[in-house]
Amino acid sequence: MSRGLFITGTDIGVGKTLITSALLQALGAGGYTTLAMKPVATGCWQTADGLRSEDAESLIAAMNQDASYREVNPVALETISEPVVSALQNRVDLTIDELAAQSVSLSRRADWLLIEGPGGVQTPITRTDTAADLALAIGFPILLVVGLRPGCINHAAMSVESLKEKGLRLAGWIGNECDGSTADLTATVHTLEKKIPADCLAVIRWQPRLDRQQLARQLHPAARKIAR
Ligand SMILES: Nc1ncnc2c1ncn2[C@@H]1O[C@H](COP(=O)(O)OP(=O)(O)O)[C@@H](O)[C@H]1O
Ligand SMILES: [Mg+2]
Repeated sequence: MSRGLFITGTDIGVGKTLITSALLQALGAGGYTTLAMKPVATGCWQTADGLRSEDAESLIAAMNQDASYREVNPVALETISEPVVSALQNRVDLTIDELAAQSVSLSRRADWLLIEGPGGVQTPITRTDTAADLALAIGFPILLVVGLRPGCINHAAMSVESLKEKGLRLAGWIGNECDGSTADLTATVHTLEKKIPADCLAVIRWQPRLDRQQLARQLHPAARKIAR
């Protein structure tokens, strides 16, 4: 049976791509077949084969099954503004249901499909729908990446509230020190544990010399917990 997670974050730049890629590698090391999806990507660059997203390319490098670029990243937009603005500027007609149907069909081809959502929970995708609406249409539980930086308790609490409001299930959260060192990491994580009604699957320290293999190994216990 295929399983999946919809990965969202407390903000952009909190480590969603980094952690999703490491989790794909950790699940792969655990013997699972894996695929990934970045349904909507902004800030893409033009290549001979069309627009490409750095996030989607990272996910493709970390998954262990084959899928075409378009299957992984159906909507690639050049602008770096919020997806709704980009979608309008690029006249892309997006429907949440189409994206959800594509992800469900991709999920049948691997044990695990990890989907990196755009931005945070309330990031707009179309004129009317947010990342949370897309997650709801897909139906996977949520993994919340909390960027451990000033303001994160507020951002995490608001994200949890929004997920709850939509009726989305939180499978767990990962704290990531995404901005260099956090003043009081232990106290911050302790407070987050009380605020977030789901398991903390890992706490990742800032790595000045980022070692992706080591990060994937660090997430082996998280992958085992998720797959349980
Ligand atoms: N714990 C960390 N240690 C070192 N670099 C990190 C860490 N977390 C995130 N980064 C870096 O921060 C940037 C933003 O991370 P990314 O995964 O792209 O965030 P998001 O997908 O949430 O926008 C990337 O360059 C990433 O490599
Ligand atoms: Mg990303």
